Amino acid sequence: MRSKKFYITTPLYYVNAKPHIGHAYTTLAADVLARHLRGKDIPVHFQTGTDEHGANIEKTAREKGVEPKAWCDLISAEFRALWKTLNISYDHFIRTTDAGHQAGVQAVFERLLRTGDIYKGAYEGLYCASCEAFYDEGELKAGRCPVHGTPAQRVSEETYFFRLSKYEKPLLEHFARHPDFLSPRYRAQELLNFVSAGLKDISVSRARVAWGVPVKSDPAHTVYVWFDALLNYATGPGYHPDQPSTDFQHVWPADVQLVGKEIFRFHGVVWPAMLLALGVELPRKVYAHGWWTINGEKMSKSRGNFIRAEDVVRDYGVDALRYFLLREVPFGQDGDFSLEALRRRYNADLANDLGNLFSRVMNMAAKYLEHRLPHKPESSEAFRELASRTPGIHRSIEALQFSEALEQIWQGVASLNRLIDEKKPWEMAKRDPAALRPFLNELVWCLRLVAGWLDPFMPDTASKMHLQLGVGMTSAGVEPQKLPPLFPRKHDDNPGAPGNN
Ligand code: MSP
Repeated sequence: MRSKKFYITTPLYYVNAKPHIGHAYTTLAADVLARHLRGKDIPVHFQTGTDEHGANIEKTAREKGVEPKAWCDLISAEFRALWKTLNISYDHFIRTTDAGHQAGVQAVFERLLRTGDIYKGAYEGLYCASCEAFYDEGELKAGRCPVHGTPAQRVSEETYFFRLSKYEKPLLEHFARHPDFLSPRYRAQELLNFVSAGLKDISVSRARVAWGVPVKSDPAHTVYVWFDALLNYATGPGYHPDQPSTDFQHVWPADVQLVGKEIFRFHGVVWPAMLLALGVELPRKVYAHGWWTINGEKMSKSRGNFIRAEDVVRDYGVDALRYFLLREVPFGQDGDFSLEALRRRYNADLANDLGNLFSRVMNMAAKYLEHRLPHKPESSEAFRELASRTPGIHRSIEALQFSEALEQIWQGVASLNRLIDEKKPWEMAKRDPAALRPFLNELVWCLRLVAGWLDPFMPDTASKMHLQLGVGMTSAGVEPQKLPPLFPRKHDDNPGAPGNN
């Protein structure tokens, strides 16, 4: 039997706005985990994609003067292009307009109608059109949506309900039996309180929204965009309520579902209740990360302060962005993005600590090892000390503590820089040339280790390092290749200007 793949998901991104660094963040984190596990020969299935239905997207498309599907094609392609730029190693990109997904959603809806978990009724409530969600009076802030700050509308319509209330106890039981299901712990309490306070049935169809998956038995309704979108995690790898799928069995249950904190409730409460209703095993972990602000402010259309990942990549390179986003803030907490903080980290951590270490060693290796690839040192204390950090780094990545993992890697980098400063190999060359060669051997092997650690975080940098370190070439006498500096310094006077180095 094939072993189950480790299944990682990101949310599906709405196509009503162009991607920004907030979107890049969730996907990058998933990518690091995926690459790390693959590096340990663990089979991985990594899914991302786009959320394309609903009134908001229809409205945006109409404003742009195009059909909704044409608009979705355009923006969905932008997301894909961005993932290519950012070196995202996803296995499957799902779109909620995919025929297979839509058929799955329709079949699920009909199945739950049959079992009585979906029923028809009438709804009157306070609605935020941007969230496409209903709110209780108490959840609004002075009558305004807690996410968008716009006034909620009182609406009334015939709708289908999902019997969420029925799953209150089963959910609480599940949370108690699986304390890691809602992660991190400090975010779980909010959801526990929400469920314990009592769940109400939720509306899962829209009579007013044409751009959506039609309810098969009642096409005057479309399926509520969240009910449609959440199912992607199952339909993507082939789930269909009436047809068994070996592909689905091969990946399910999802192992880690990464989401932003504002959509934790959908993923930690509604989604598992839908799965309970379908009799499908629940995911192992739903992890909610924090939000990025820009110079202390929320990113928003009105402020026009979106930071596009492409712009950062153009100025600093893809690995600097990958590094910064995962290093600056512990994964789970909120953080602030500023170009100044990015430049500071770039110069200090990448250009100085890592870049200088690497070029110092490579220059000396070229000079004193005559370009020969060194043999693995028989007994190197430095290498052993460095290697002892590997399990801790791996544990941190697996606990999704990416900043902690990077901190440990940089402690290793600092220890190598200290060792060089202490041993002064440039003096050794004159004083004790016989000792220099084994010392450089050690350093080259230490850098190979560092490159391996960096691989999930900064794949381009790691492969440049590997190339120069001659990884993969085993015979002595192969010339490591010479390449430009890994991270040319950025000067302060004109931050971020292209070519400023
Ligand atoms: N379409 C829904 C998700 C459906 S999943 C079945 C959605 N899309 S979104 O495009 O608005 O957001 C997708 C992800 O981007 C979320 O995880 C969200 O937290 C993340 N981010 C969007 N802006 C962000 C920041 N400013 N900072 C960090 N992440 C943010 O919600």
